[in-house]
Amino acid sequence: MKEIKIFTPATVANISCGFDILGLCLDTVGDEMIVREVPEKGIKLTKITGQKLPLETHKNVAGVAGLALLEEVDASVGYEIEIYKKIKPGSGIGSSAASAAGAVFAINELLGKPFSKQELIYFAMQGEKLASGSEHADNVSPVILGGFTLVRSYEPLDILKINSPNDLYATIIHPQIEVKTSDSRAVLKNQVSLKKMVTQMGNFGGLISGLYTNDYDLIGRSLHDEIIEPNRLVLIPEFDKVKKGVIQAGALGAGISGSGPSIFALSKGEETAKLVGKTMAEIYNNTDIDYDIHVSKINQQGIKIL
Ligand code: HSE
Repeated sequence: MKEIKIFTPATVANISCGFDILGLCLDTVGDEMIVREVPEKGIKLTKITGQKLPLETHKNVAGVAGLALLEEVDASVGYEIEIYKKIKPGSGIGSSAASAAGAVFAINELLGKPFSKQELIYFAMQGEKLASGSEHADNVSPVILGGFTLVRSYEPLDILKINSPNDLYATIIHPQIEVKTSDSRAVLKNQVSLKKMVTQMGNFGGLISGLYTNDYDLIGRSLHDEIIEPNRLVLIPEFDKVKKGVIQAGALGAGISGSGPSIFALSKGEETAKLVGKTMAEIYNNTDIDYDIHVSKINQQGIKIL
């Protein structure tokens, strides 16, 4: 029987100044999936553990992404998908992206890799569209390419992998409340002032430059978002306290992970990243909200075959 088992990682999108275009891949949190070739054509979700998610192919992000791929290939077989979900939906660390990207990656492997990674990103985006109503690629790209990724252009799709320093760590706090990406996008404004655009572009360029030159201070100075964060922070309990607290604890900077409610911080070195996690936990211990903390090196590989 032809089947493949994969680890499909969680991701942080936006990274403060890169709304819808920047993302990074985590190593210590992600789902597992098994995808199996079967004689019946099409895609069948046969098992999902860990979360209550639809098994109907057209209602499941992995199913929809897989079908988008199969439409482009003359396959004489079909695929069964099992998802062992560890990333909670609505967490802001790319739950739907992990499933959608995992499905297309695995099917492509079983088919003998007819599609490029850029093409797989396009198919996975169809799953994102189902989940949130928007075809953003900033979570699915780092799942498939690993590391930091930049969506240079959506039309045509042009996605780049960006360098990142070896000792860069991400710390994430995931408060156990659900924020739907569609709701978190609904609070955004459609217009941006010229002044804010200039500030954001400065920070964006600074972040990319810092990532390429291993300049941790520059990365920290650039982790600001004057456009999206001010509108979304009302959705995230204790956001300001966490952000100030982690910077005092030594983080380079912090912001909303994707569309929230998770908050991310970047740090130089694992020790600082763990201290940052402790600081996040202390702040949330004063609330009645449960949380998970993840400390992770940047995952340069993305999806891993197990
Ligand atoms: N860039 C998207 C957003 C990511 O911020 O809405 C969603 O995970």
